[in-house]
Amino acid sequence: MPVPDLVPAKGDDTSPPVHVAIIMDGNGRWAAARGLPRAEGHRRGVEALRKTVRASSDLGIQYLTIFSFSAENWTRPAQEINDLMTLVKRFVRDDLADLHKSGVRIRIIGDRTGLDSEITGLIAHAEMLTRENRKCTLCVAFNYGSRQEIARAARKLAEDSVSGNIDPSQIDAELLEAQLDTAGIPDPDLVIRTSGEQRLSNFLLWQAAYAEFVFMPIYWPDFDRAALEEAIEEFHRRERRFGGVNARAGN
Ligand code: IPE
Ligand code: IPE
Ligand code: MG
Repeated sequence: MPVPDLVPAKGDDTSPPVHVAIIMDGNGRWAAARGLPRAEGHRRGVEALRKTVRASSDLGIQYLTIFSFSAENWTRPAQEINDLMTLVKRFVRDDLADLHKSGVRIRIIGDRTGLDSEITGLIAHAEMLTRENRKCTLCVAFNYGSRQEIARAARKLAEDSVSGNIDPSQIDAELLEAQLDTAGIPDPDLVIRTSGEQRLSNFLLWQAAYAEFVFMPIYWPDFDRAALEEAIEEFHRRERRFGGVNARAGN
């Protein structure tokens, strides 16, 4: 008797992942390997990002989330923080018009309180300008830490309980999720980290519950369309189960 085809078998589904999230790591080591200052690694990292956004949109990926600055990155030397902030501002100023023209919607996740007003202004403008775009969404994790995000969501639910807007017995995963910075964005299907490190570093802890992880040995400035395609090929070789069973494989 034929086995019912409940779940597509590995490799049957060649459509791109809906949501790819990237931990862009290794700028400093890329620069050090060439005897260059870390800032040069970050500058080249922005070029890799440009290529990746274009490739991701061409490949039909609907959501691309990038980890650009973590809540813990403030512990770096002041000069490096300054270099990174300058690059972020320059990226928005130089690239926003093109991104908008290409139909990219921009969404920023992370804590905005206490940020330099120039940056919060640029963020608000980028989100507002591109809010109707539908080709794809570029979600930028900036001053982002997943534990802090979950704690903020929990605090909001506690406030809503105290004010009587919700009853604590109503709180479930769905209600908490609706308070995360990523509310309305589907969970990442694929999380890529470059540079060889194999950890999440406080990135999308909640959202990546069933993501596939691909760790690549290259430094972020060397990432390009071919590397993205390679990660997607690996993703297609994986068998996702979400806690269920794969009927065809029989286990
Ligand atoms: C990633 O590269 C960029 C940011 C974290 C902002 P790194 O700066 O972490 O580079 P490595 O890991 O030191 O090589
Ligand atoms: C994670 O990389 C943050 C970003 C890529 C923005 P880090 O380089 O900060 O992470 P750790 O310190 O190696 O875990
Ligand atoms: Mg790093």
